[in-house]
Amino acid sequence: MRSRKAFMYVPGSDLHKIEKAAGIGADCVVLDLEDGVAEGKKDEARQIIAQALLEIDFGPSERVVRVNSFASGRTVADLQAVLPSKPDAILLPKLEHDTQLLKLADMVSMQEDLALLAIVESALGMVNLGTICRASEKVHRLQGLVFGAEDFVADMGATRTPEGTEMLFARSRLVMYAAAYGLQAIDMVTVNYSDPEVLDREALQGAQMGYSGKQVIHPLQVAPVQRIFTPSEKEIAAAKHILEEAKRFGKVGKGAFTIDGQMVDRPVIKRAETVLARAGISVE
Ligand code: COA
Ligand code: MG
Repeated sequence: MRSRKAFMYVPGSDLHKIEKAAGIGADCVVLDLEDGVAEGKKDEARQIIAQALLEIDFGPSERVVRVNSFASGRTVADLQAVLPSKPDAILLPKLEHDTQLLKLADMVSMQEDLALLAIVESALGMVNLGTICRASEKVHRLQGLVFGAEDFVADMGATRTPEGTEMLFARSRLVMYAAAYGLQAIDMVTVNYSDPEVLDREALQGAQMGYSGKQVIHPLQVAPVQRIFTPSEKEIAAAKHILEEAKRFGKVGKGAFTIDGQMVDRPVIKRAETVLARAGISVE
């Protein structure tokens, strides 16, 4: 599955920003038709995106289109406008029911090599994660789930705090279901794009929770997010050391051993393997 570390939104109505986004080196450029586009600009945005997909070179970035939710009544027309231009992936917002996922899969069934991604961002969507994930076993195109923090907090009638405790349960729940069903998990947006410390803190939290990437809304957020979601040299060296020691102790029949005063056993080894996998280093 392709890496989706920096998942960058661009309003589909803004050609200048789309051109700019194409050269920034984000893992994914998400051409938005939903909440980043004003009501009166939706038709124009469809045309701009359809043309941009044909004419602009996005380099190595994945070309994702965020369509409008099923509840909006716009999804079909969005897909009809953009699918002929062959995006790499469709992102469905406000996923709440397994039936919506199955319906979307049906609507794109003729498109080869099209990935699906979905945002879960309401109380109902969070409650239904079990049935949604079970349906994903029939929809192999679904590669990842995205945590929509701002909509979720609004739907809960909760208050958005700097600590984010009001959404901690949902943020944890989503990444847990994604792990259980072999899906990628893409973390919340940090709306404060002018304070690098806030971004670093929130990105690190997400990476530590097991998220594989993060939504971003401004070019300044791309490089820090890519850095934080890529294991550091120090982490890679430590992981390699653990695997070497595991091999050495394994030969003499020891499953648990000590490195620097810390016990190492199977789960520690598994985490070391994950670090190397995330760094793109293959483990024999
Ligand atoms: N994609 C591509 N380019 C972007 C960008 C984005 N998401 N956000 C900003 N830029 C560009 C600007 O166009 C500007 O380029 P320029 O100097 O050539 O004009 C440059 O980066 C610096 O931008 P800045 O002036 O700091 O911000 P802004 O006032 O132009 O835009 C936002 C601020 C928040 C409106 C803008 O970042 C944005 O639209 N983000 C995405 C919002 C969105 O899609 N929300 C829905 C999903 S959560
Ligand atoms: Mg949203």
